Amino acid sequence: MTPTAFDAMPMTPPEVIAPEIFLIPNLAPGPDGLYLPVNSMVIRGREPVIVDTGAPVHRALWLDKVFAVVEPQDVRWIFLSHDDGDHTGALFDVLERCPRATLVTNFFSVERLALEKPALPLARMRWIEPGGSFDAGDRVLKLFRPPVFDGPTSRGLFDPKSGAMWMVDSFPCFTPGSLDADEMPQDLLSQVMPALSSAISPWHAWLDSAAYLRHVDAVEALGARTVASAHGPVLRGERLDDAFDRLRALAGTPVIPTPGQELLDALLAPTLAEAG
Ligand SMILES: [Fe+2]
Ligand SMILES: [Fe+2]
Repeated sequence: MTPTAFDAMPMTPPEVIAPEIFLIPNLAPGPDGLYLPVNSMVIRGREPVIVDTGAPVHRALWLDKVFAVVEPQDVRWIFLSHDDGDHTGALFDVLERCPRATLVTNFFSVERLALEKPALPLARMRWIEPGGSFDAGDRVLKLFRPPVFDGPTSRGLFDPKSGAMWMVDSFPCFTPGSLDADEMPQDLLSQVMPALSSAISPWHAWLDSAAYLRHVDAVEALGARTVASAHGPVLRGERLDDAFDRLRALAGTPVIPTPGQELLDALLAPTLAEAG
């Protein structure tokens, strides 16, 4: 098989980020030698929860990592934050290998997934809306709508017992390799996180500041001490405060442009030079 850029990614083993909370990190190629995190999470409490199921490109690696921290037979919950492909990569593998698990999702995710995947087992689901919760034995996990998001079905998850929060697609940032915001160059966080946030939620340009800030404040008031997300580093303390402030600053500001034809030309230039 021809090697791809994904074969050259640094190793990223599961990491304990809070008591019984494991980050399942994977990386994808990004610009300028940086990487895009594609994370998910496992809550290994009395009734273990798998939080999102990774991207299709990482499927085999993702399965190895997740089942290195939890036995498939022990998994009782699969929390699907939303139906985007980079969160549903191993969904069917998990449903098959974890027969005791209930899928926490919602009506609209199921509608949307029905257009691209085989039928999901309705009898194994629970549909929970933002503001709702489910009891995982030794903790009650709360669902909320993330501050920004690229899919209408997105729901974050907060574990009051460990203080850990799953922020879905909010707080995205390329990384040189680390998944800890304290170890990353701070100018990368201050420049790239707003740019990627704008890319996933260009509707921020139309936001009424007062209404949006009430929403961001309510998420912050849940009181998370450790915040993990699908496409960014783990945030705590000051780094977390900064990330919330960056989100607030997006309200009503112009969309930050993503690279255009110039980047495509630059990417193609070596191939065209070789051919010519
Ligand atoms: Fe998404
Ligand atoms: Fe995502």
